[in-house]
Amino acid sequence: MVVEPRVKDYICTTAHPIGCAQNVKNQIAYVKSKGVVKNDNAPKKVLVIGASTGYGLASRIAVAFGYGADTLGVMFEKESNGRRTATAGFYNTRAFEEEAHAAGLYAKSINGDAFSQEIKDQVIDTIKADLGKVDMVVYSLAAPRRTTADGTKYTSVLKTVGQEYSNKTLVLKDNTVTEAHISAANEDEINATIKVMGGEDWIDWMQALSDAGVLADDVITVAYSYIGPKITFPIYAEGSIGQAKKDLYKSADIINEKFPNIKAKIAINKALVTQSSAAIPIVPLYITLLYKVMKEKGLHEGCIEQMQRLFMDKILDDTQVDDNGFIRMDDWEMRDDVQSVVAEHWDTVNNDNVKDIADIDGYWEDFYNMFGFRIDGVDYSADVDIM
Ligand code: NAI
Repeated sequence: MVVEPRVKDYICTTAHPIGCAQNVKNQIAYVKSKGVVKNDNAPKKVLVIGASTGYGLASRIAVAFGYGADTLGVMFEKESNGRRTATAGFYNTRAFEEEAHAAGLYAKSINGDAFSQEIKDQVIDTIKADLGKVDMVVYSLAAPRRTTADGTKYTSVLKTVGQEYSNKTLVLKDNTVTEAHISAANEDEINATIKVMGGEDWIDWMQALSDAGVLADDVITVAYSYIGPKITFPIYAEGSIGQAKKDLYKSADIINEKFPNIKAKIAINKALVTQSSAAIPIVPLYITLLYKVMKEKGLHEGCIEQMQRLFMDKILDDTQVDDNGFIRMDDWEMRDDVQSVVAEHWDTVNNDNVKDIADIDGYWEDFYNMFGFRIDGVDYSADVDIM
């Protein structure tokens, strides 16, 4: 069938198999162009939890083609039923595995709920059978909900904490600027968001892997967070998701204290268009203003540029951290010369000037690319097998 994008609000309900594969190939080519890391301590067997899209996929590609690492990936993606396309992450993962195998690397993926004991057991069995032990664990889950072992369902919210908040936002369906009103999360909603996006499940994973004896000595584990500028504080760093991220930071400390053989790290990444960030109010407008400034200054990076830099330049060097011990992949985003222009544009942006001072086209290019559309070299008029 000919596959076309079907965009609803901040999600595209179709994905293009060839486009997704090309997207993965382009990311691999980028990592290869930067060369293989020359470090005897570089991990060789890496587990990536949340490996199919966004930062997790880019992490997997960076370690496979930058370290030459074997990878086991965990994801939550839908296969095609013959009528609907599969999700982008499904096609991405298949393409990644093909490319990794062609390069002589081990690559397997487990599709299921990473929060569940069943998937943790499957991962442990697979490591025991195929890899023996892993020397790196990337935790890159971004999930809307979690069911815990006792059957309780928690749903995360993207709300403020304390007071409700209003600010400018980009209406994605017509690229207009309007006012977003964000209500304050109640205590149950904050606790649910912490359950889903905090660090409890990260600790559970490290405990389960440790108990099973599948962690190498001096294993590194990393989880991702975002801080951003003041404009986004009420909805992000100080909002409900920010409370979950504070829990994630505490969890890194807990893992480090509890397991002397594990080094748990937090990387603060750049704001980028991913399936998760598109859902956050206010943030897409900030991203379009940011992209414009960073591209003009030649500082722009996508997920793969960020993750290539993280794994090749930063993560193996314990000195490259801020006062909190965080690896700052948002170093270029947070530069004064970038943030001062973004803040100025934030104050002045309106429907008349949004197309000039915000990178709307860049936003949509990234958005469509995530689902395998608008990728150079792909014939979108051709019939494709969606299975
Ligand atoms: P994403 O939506 O692109 O990726 C999420 C991944 O988690 C996918 O591989 C998905 O299959 C997997 N997943 C979701 N629920 C799952 C479940 N129940 N079981 C197994 N796998 C599941 O998201 P993105 O943006 O790459 O986020 C990854 C991490 O990076 C998150 O911690 C996020 O907060 C963080 N981050 C994102 C930034 C951004 O601007 N997008 C900025 C800084 C940090």
